[in-house]
Amino acid sequence: MTSNKTRFDLPLKARSLITPIIIGKNEGDRSSILHVISHRNLTERLEKILDLQMDKIIVFGTPNVHDSTGSEAWNKRGIIQNTIKNIKSNFDKKLEVIADVCICQYNLSGHCGIINHQDNQIDNDKTLKVMSKIALSYTESGADIVAPSSMMDGLVLSIRNNLNDNGFIDRKIMSFSKQHSCLYSPFRLTAFKKFSKVDKSTYQIGCSNHREMLRKLELDYREGADILTIKPSMSNLDLISEIVDRVNCRIAVQHVSGEFAMLKAATRNGLIEEPEWLIGYFSSMLRAGASNIISYGAEDIAALI
Ligand code: PBG
Ligand code: ZN
Repeated sequence: MTSNKTRFDLPLKARSLITPIIIGKNEGDRSSILHVISHRNLTERLEKILDLQMDKIIVFGTPNVHDSTGSEAWNKRGIIQNTIKNIKSNFDKKLEVIADVCICQYNLSGHCGIINHQDNQIDNDKTLKVMSKIALSYTESGADIVAPSSMMDGLVLSIRNNLNDNGFIDRKIMSFSKQHSCLYSPFRLTAFKKFSKVDKSTYQIGCSNHREMLRKLELDYREGADILTIKPSMSNLDLISEIVDRVNCRIAVQHVSGEFAMLKAATRNGLIEEPEWLIGYFSSMLRAGASNIISYGAEDIAALI
């Protein structure tokens, strides 16, 4: 297979950076590390993002309504559906909207799948149906890219088929490959409050299982993923440089909430220069072979470059 390392985009440009936006009804504490933003303040924030020459965002929903299946995720008038429609009507093609597809913020368990009550295990196939339904719903609302993150087997293929069957051949899939990690806690605390200690080790991949990560990335690519995203970032730079030579699509990397929180903790204690570190660190991700970086620090850095 041809190498796509030539796609390196150094030095770092604003267009390589993607900002995660957590949408919710209650904005909560502004001093917290991750901000939840409501519809009311979204347009202003997006205008700032466009002014910074950034052209992509990824939206995560934190709904007020929860039930055992997470059905609010595929409600036609749900929080993300409304948000996407709103963005598309205000900004149309200027902003590419990526929608996170999962149910852990929407259900009662905090797990990324449907739980089978007979054996208390995640039911892979039931989960595929639900995720395909959610991805279609976001696509119908106008999402340019859907980003499934539940790590179920066959997820990309199932979503691809459902989108194609409904006439959305042109819409893209950004698949997530997640290492099992304690670094998601700040996000979980923000998104589902009391469920921060959910054990997802049966479907997220252990850090010692390098070959399984590579296999999962290659499988997602073969199932039709347009962008492969790896998270967390700092423990996986080697994986980026390995996978970039094995597939012919864009690689993205997510600098997750816990990584950002560590950085903030050090900065708040006056121990490091945050922008200097981030610019150097993001550049190393590009050198490893990533084309896009998702980070809560994306806007701060875009403002400096
Ligand atoms: C799960 C999901 C996770 C994050 C967003 N969606 C990981 C998890 O809970 O296991 C974490 C993102 C972050 O930490 O920034 N679908
Ligand atoms: Zn999830």
